[in-house]
Amino acid sequence: MVLRTIRPDCYSVAALDFERRLFDSLIPLPDGTSYNAYVIRGTEKTALIDTVDPSKELELVSDLVRLSLHSIDYVIINHAEQDHAGTLPMVLELFPSCIVVTNEKCKDLLLRHFDLDQDRFIIIKDRETLSLGNKTLEFIIAPNVHWPETMLTYLREDRILFSCDLFGTHYATSDLFVTDEKIITSAAKRYYAEIMMPFRFSIREHMKKLRALEIDIIAPSHGPVFNHPALILEAYEDWISDSVKNEVVIPYVSMHGSTRMMVDYLTRALIERGITVKPFDMTVTDTGNLAMSLVDAATVVIATPTVLYGPHPQIVYVTYLADLLHPKVKFASIIGSYGWGGRTADILKAMMTHIKPELLEPVLVQGLPCEASNRGLERLADDIARKHKEAGLIPS
Ligand code: FEO
Repeated sequence: MVLRTIRPDCYSVAALDFERRLFDSLIPLPDGTSYNAYVIRGTEKTALIDTVDPSKELELVSDLVRLSLHSIDYVIINHAEQDHAGTLPMVLELFPSCIVVTNEKCKDLLLRHFDLDQDRFIIIKDRETLSLGNKTLEFIIAPNVHWPETMLTYLREDRILFSCDLFGTHYATSDLFVTDEKIITSAAKRYYAEIMMPFRFSIREHMKKLRALEIDIIAPSHGPVFNHPALILEAYEDWISDSVKNEVVIPYVSMHGSTRMMVDYLTRALIERGITVKPFDMTVTDTGNLAMSLVDAATVVIATPTVLYGPHPQIVYVTYLADLLHPKVKFASIIGSYGWGGRTADILKAMMTHIKPELLEPVLVQGLPCEASNRGLERLADDIARKHKEAGLIPS
């Protein structure tokens, strides 16, 4: 753990977790992560913004000791999830006069997740402020990024936005600030795809408020701090927009090679029509890479063999996950090979409850791909190209 100064009397006390490889028993972490907490020392009061994952609580304590903090007056809790609030009970035990500052909904969730004294809270509302003497904290209630209780904290005098999970990256780095913009933008896109994408309409509303603030620094709860906030703000403006790219994503599984042959055929046919194609073998693909590709794609084609009477279970999982992430894909189809029957297409169509794309006629073949199925794939490539042209994604 490294104690780092962002601005005078404003410190990062982030816990770096280089080794962690899975979050929520779901999200792959190829680059680890960090749990960022911050200390702000005003002339009259001291505040801790968020805490760290319980697995790193001793690191937080060591930083607070090194800051020679005899007291913390306030702990601001922006979000009740354990990776940020999990060390709150320990902080309240260490600093008996410390008061939790949060919103009503967050307090409710904290009391449900932790054993806390409900009298040690100050409840704030949207745009309320808290004075630390020469520094002022302003609170911006921002529900659904990504829990309903989330809020952001703005340090007015230093123009720092503590954005909680919003604008975060699961990226452990010893650098306090972003150094490699390309790498961090990619990590931020992965994070957005896996965690924030289902909430893009909420984020749009919050962005309206943020545009009115003067922001010099964005200090999120995961990953490095942005000292050039335009990098992440402009990336989010693009990701949350309605615009899609001339791209087709094909998550697939093949058991004996027939579905793979169809994927290869369709990939070639789409490339010939000037379309970018991203096929993913879901038996070996990191789901974070698939999620990232779904941020921009206009079309998804799910490719699966039939197992018994339905889609391959791995494809059921992927379809469920993709639908849950609620990407802005406009068109979808299904291709694959079956042995003797089944309801593969109907089952997959019924699973697309959130994204509700326009469904293009599937191409399913019994056994080996043949001339008829190839004609079907040519027709599907034509359909996709026509839809992309009509959407202005391919020049006419
Ligand atoms: Fe990083 Fe929603 O916790």
